[in-house]
Amino acid sequence: MKGPEDDEGLAGKVALISGGGAAGDGIGNGRAAAILLARAGTKVMVADRDLKLAERTVEMIREEGGTSAAIASDVTDEDDCRKLVEATVSQFGRLDFLDNNVGIGSRGSVVDEKAEQYRKVMQVNVESMFLLSKYAIPAMVRTAGGGAIVNISSISALRPRGLTIYTTSKAAVIGLTRAMAVDHGRDNIRVNCICPGPMYTPMVYARGMSDQARANRTRASVLKTEGTGWDIGQAVKFLFSQYARYITGQVLVVDGGVTLQAPERESEEH
Ligand SMILES: NC(=O)c1ccc[n+]([C@@H]2O[C@H](COP(=O)([O-])OP(=O)(O)OC[C@H]3O[C@@H](n4cnc5c(N)ncnc54)[C@H](O)[C@@H]3O)[C@@H](O)[C@H]2O)c1
Repeated sequence: MKGPEDDEGLAGKVALISGGGAAGDGIGNGRAAAILLARAGTKVMVADRDLKLAERTVEMIREEGGTSAAIASDVTDEDDCRKLVEATVSQFGRLDFLDNNVGIGSRGSVVDEKAEQYRKVMQVNVESMFLLSKYAIPAMVRTAGGGAIVNISSISALRPRGLTIYTTSKAAVIGLTRAMAVDHGRDNIRVNCICPGPMYTPMVYARGMSDQARANRTRASVLKTEGTGWDIGQAVKFLFSQYARYITGQVLVVDGGVTLQAPERESEEH
C-alpha cells in the first residue's frame, strides 16, 4: 500500500544551486545535483560566478527535457545574493531548496598562509552561505511554506590534512548548519550538511592530478572506489526529498569510508 511517504516530493519544486557550473562537460558536485534534481522534475536555477559554466549545466538539463535557467552571481556579494533569490522566485514562482555548494581550497599551515587568504577563503566558503541563506529563507517561507537547505562542507572539517584555512572554513559550515537547523525548524525548513571525501570533480582535475595520486585517493577509500560529483548530487537530492523529512541539523559524510581509515598519504586531498 502506497502512502504520501512514498512520494519523494521533488516534482514541481524549485531549487537554487550556487556554484552549479563546472569546467567543460565535467561533473562537479553542484552540476550533478542540478541534473539529478531536474530529472526528478525540480526546476533548477543554476548560479555561478562564471555564467558560461552555469549555462553549460542548463544546456545539459534542457537536452534531457528538464527546466532550468542560468544566472551570473558572485555569492560573496550581498547584493548578488539578494538579486539571485529574487530572480529565482520571479523566474519559477517559488523557492523550495538551496544547495550552498560554492567552495574554494587552500593549502598550508597558519604559518604558511597569509591573513588575506584566510579572509578570502572564509568569505567564499562560509560568508557566502550565510548571505545566500539570509535571503533564501524568507523567500522559502513566503513562497513555499518551508523548504530544505544543504550546505557543502568537507571531510577536511573532520580530519585535517594540511589545508588549515579550508578545514577551518568547512568546520564553520557544520556550525552554521546546526545553528540554522535550530533557528528555522519552526519555519518548516530543514538544514543539513554534506562532507564529501575526495571526489573526482573539475575542482580537482583542473589543477592537474597524476594517475598515481588518483590511485592513492581511490585506495584510501574502504570501498576502493573513486567518488564523483554524482555521489554528492544523489546525497543532495535525498536530503531535499520527502524521504529526509525527519532529518535536520545533520552531517552526512559521503566519502567511501575514507575517514574510517588511518591517513596514509599526502595525496588523498579533499
Ligand atoms: N571535489 C572534492 O573532492 C571536494 C571534496 C570536499 C568538498 N568539496 C566541496 O564541494 C563543493 C563543490 O566542489 P567542486 O569540486 O564541485 O568544485 P568546482 O570548482 O568544480 O565547482 C565550483 C563552482 O563554484 C564556482 N564559484 C567559485 N566561487 C564562486 C563565487 N564566489 N560565486 C559563485 N560561484 C563561484 C566556480 O566557478 C565553479 O563553477 C565546494 O564547496 C568544495 O569545497 C569538494
